Amino acid sequence: MASNNSLSTMTKAYAKWAPFYDAVYARILRAGRLEAVRVALEAGRDILEVGVGTGLSLGDYPATHRVVGIDLSKAMLDRAAEKNRNGNLTAVTGLAVMDACRLGFKDQAFDAVVAQYVITLVPDAEGALDEFVRVLKPGGEIVLVNHLGTAGGPIAALEGLVAPLAKKVGWSSEFKLARIAAWAARAGFEVASVKRVAPVGFFTVIRLTDRRAAQEIAA
Ligand SMILES: C[S@@+](CC[C@H](N)C(=O)[O-])C[C@H]1O[C@@H](n2cnc3c(N)ncnc32)[C@H](O)[C@@H]1O
Repeated sequence: MASNNSLSTMTKAYAKWAPFYDAVYARILRAGRLEAVRVALEAGRDILEVGVGTGLSLGDYPATHRVVGIDLSKAMLDRAAEKNRNGNLTAVTGLAVMDACRLGFKDQAFDAVVAQYVITLVPDAEGALDEFVRVLKPGGEIVLVNHLGTAGGPIAALEGLVAPLAKKVGWSSEFKLARIAAWAARAGFEVASVKRVAPVGFFTVIRLTDRRAAQEIAA
C-alpha cells in the first residue's frame, strides 16, 4: 500500500496541474480515452473510472451506461464536477475523492473498471488491480490505458523526446506490460487485447478479462 507521504505528494502535484491539465493533455490523450471508453461500454452498464481526473472522458459515456468517477485529487475532481454541472454528462452517477487501493464500494459492484493514464502512478499497482477485481462483478473487465516502457525502436526514441512532459505527470518508462501480464496470470485474468493508439502508438490500451470461472471449470 502507498504511504500517506506518496499519496500526499501525488495530491499536491495534481493540485498544481488541475488548472492547466485539460489545455495541455486533452488532445494528446484523446485516442486512448476514446478506445478505452469504447471497450468499457461493451463490458456492461455499470462502470467505475479510477483516477478520472478532470473528467475528460465523462462526456464519451452514453446515457445507456452508469459511470462513477473517483480520484485522489480533489482539485482535479472539482474540474470534473464542474463539467458535470455545466455539461450534459448523462451517464455520471457519482464523483468521489478516493484512493485506487482503497475503494469505498461493495464487492462486485461494477461491470468494468477503467483506469486511464493512472496505473503507473500508483506505487502499489498490483494492490490497486486487486482492489479493481474486488469491486468487479464476476466476468467483468478491467481497461487500462497508459504509456508503457518499450525496449527499442521509434517509440523508445519518442519516449526520450516526450520524457520531460511525461515526467511532469509522473509517467515512467520503467513500467512495462510484463508487469501487468504477471499480475493477470496470478489473479486469473487474461490479457485479452493490447492495442497501441495515437500519438504514434505511444499509449497502449489493455483489456483484461476475468477468466477465474473458466479456469475453475477447467481444473
Ligand atoms: C495523468 S492523470 C489522468 C486523469 C484522467 N484519467 C485522464 O485521462 O485525463 C492521473 C490521475 O490519477 C490520479 N491518481 C493518481 N494516483 C491515484 C490513486 N492512488 N488513486 C486515485 N487516483 C489517483 C491523479 O490525481 C490524476 O488525476
